[in-house]
Amino acid sequence: MLVNLKEILADAERRGYAVGLFNMVNLEMARGIVEAAEAERSPLILGFAEVHLPFVPLRYVASIMRQLAREVSVPICLHYDHGVEFSNIQEAISLGFTSVMYDGSALPYDENIANTRLIVEMARPLNISVEAELGRVGGNETGDDCGFDEEHTNPVQVADFIEKTGIDALAVAIGTVHGKYKKPPSLDINRLAEINKISSKPLVLHGGSGLSPDDFKNTVANGIRKVNIGTEIFNAAHKAYALDFQDGKSFESSTVSAKDAVKAVVQEKMRIFGSSGKAN
Ligand code: 13P
Repeated sequence: MLVNLKEILADAERRGYAVGLFNMVNLEMARGIVEAAEAERSPLILGFAEVHLPFVPLRYVASIMRQLAREVSVPICLHYDHGVEFSNIQEAISLGFTSVMYDGSALPYDENIANTRLIVEMARPLNISVEAELGRVGGNETGDDCGFDEEHTNPVQVADFIEKTGIDALAVAIGTVHGKYKKPPSLDINRLAEINKISSKPLVLHGGSGLSPDDFKNTVANGIRKVNIGTEIFNAAHKAYALDFQDGKSFESSTVSAKDAVKAVVQEKMRIFGSSGKAN
């Protein structure tokens, strides 16, 4: 069943678990993610990030997503991740995404608010949810080295940001980074707990790849209701193609190996996030 982010996170909030957002760039990744959600009876946020537009046009991605959403029996939200360009976000909305993230984290506070508000005004009448980021999560979703420096979310700004923007979910920066961790992650759980006390909206953790099960348990216990995973499933698919190539297997069969490798990682995450079995 196709739902928006607000709807899918309402149940997570009520029952105290987190829904995974899993980013895809091709058919095998998307199928692996959806098969995992079916196998786990877990709600799912299927994502595509703007930084991956140079690799695949959004209309093809959206077609795959919409078809899978038609066939799936668990709640599914189609999320456009880290939108920076308004025109891209508009396109995502017109192509059937049910949720968008506007990422104004590189902008000054007031500009982040003003731009996020514009996206909310565009999305809300269409029943499309909006996520935004306060502070700045470090690293880079493309996995290269030219990421932003991080800036942890300031709890003092949380209530004001939510009220002025009208968002449905808030992405926080508490020590996670996108892509590969160059040093072991150290999460500021006290800061998260403080933000959670103030925030009237569900909280989102970016940079989920490379975190430990304990990190997830601690963050979910302190209000995280959506966890974004990219790098770990990209690597799982990549490795599966490479191993099959090394073993002399056909490309066709390696697409199935990649799907299954993604599925296995996603199932493991869903169990850790506590979303397994929640779609029943
Ligand atoms: P990772 O690639 O580090 O898992 O981060 C994903 C993410 O936060 C996408 O928004």
